[in-house]
Amino acid sequence: MAKLRRIGVMTSGGDSPGMNPCVRAVVRTALSHDVEVYGIREGYAGMIRGEIIPMNARDVSGIIQQGGTILRTARSMEFKTKKGQREGIRQMNEFGIDGLVVIGGDGSLSGAHVLAEQGVAVVGVPGSIDNDIWGTSMSIGVDTAMNTILNAIDMLRDTASSHQRAFLVETMGRACGYLAVAAGITGGAELVLTPEIKVTVEEVAKEVEMAYMRGKAHCIIVVAEGASLKCTELKEALDAMDVGFHTRVTILGHIQRGGKPSAFDRLLATRMGMAAVEALLDGESDVMIGLQGQGMTTIPLADVIGRQRTINPEYLEMAHIMSL
Ligand code: ADP
Ligand code: F6P
Repeated sequence: MAKLRRIGVMTSGGDSPGMNPCVRAVVRTALSHDVEVYGIREGYAGMIRGEIIPMNARDVSGIIQQGGTILRTARSMEFKTKKGQREGIRQMNEFGIDGLVVIGGDGSLSGAHVLAEQGVAVVGVPGSIDNDIWGTSMSIGVDTAMNTILNAIDMLRDTASSHQRAFLVETMGRACGYLAVAAGITGGAELVLTPEIKVTVEEVAKEVEMAYMRGKAHCIIVVAEGASLKCTELKEALDAMDVGFHTRVTILGHIQRGGKPSAFDRLLATRMGMAAVEALLDGESDVMIGLQGQGMTTIPLADVIGRQRTINPEYLEMAHIMSL
């Protein structure tokens, strides 16, 4: 097998806190093996445009504590086409890149698989706050987003208790309820609504009224953005039904994607970035680095893409019991 001489690294799709420490780990691990590193800016869009820059150890100084991604990120419709992929591969060849690390979510990993099928040596790293990626128990950014959500819930509970109100708190996560249910357990919510489990307005109203009757000073309802009931409509319905509490809505939105990566995310990002380069050096391609148990693993990208990590049913049960 030919020795790896120069690799590329990119961040793609929705950003997540911890992408910077991962880029740093990729750059420094590669350099420690005498492999050159080029940063591809703005994901697949930058690859097509040839926005590819050499990176040295000092280029990744002082970024371990920064949210976002210094390489920037993007979503590229063009890369989904055969022509876009062809242009991207042409640019990679022009820059002499013989291995690639893609840090991103399910969509970005699908793009990585498409490149691998066309002969590019590529290793994916799961970076997404949603924790919806198959084959890894945690993706980079989930822990930081969770802590952001918890800070918000803690603060909302103060005002909710003072006014004896119900709060509908919307979390991100696309079609996955992981953030909502984990935040519900750790934030002490009375109710969690996820895309995975369908409930009616009447069922929610009954739960809220029962919480009121149990003497609760507040009612925190965490609603995943992909849940079938939407916060604003639910608020109107609950207020019209008179469930004991008046309700307010807080949509957390993109604050969940920002902020300093937590210690957990910095460590995970560093381990995954390092493992990705080592996998390329070992001649692996078309795989994703995952966290399974305490260890780093490689999983074929074909097994990862198009599948969604499901939430642990025990978590839903736990959230329910803890809300008594
Ligand atoms: P994320 O990586 O956060 O899930 P997206 O789903 O938006 O974000 O995907 C990021 C980018 O990955 C897309 O804009 C596109 O360029 C690329 N991509 C997604 N799906 C595919 C696919 N099936 N084939 C090729 N490229 C894809
Ligand atoms: O995948 C990360 C995520 O933040 C999802 O939770 C959310 O549905 C989506 O991206 C939002 O995308 P955008 O940044 O394009 O608004």
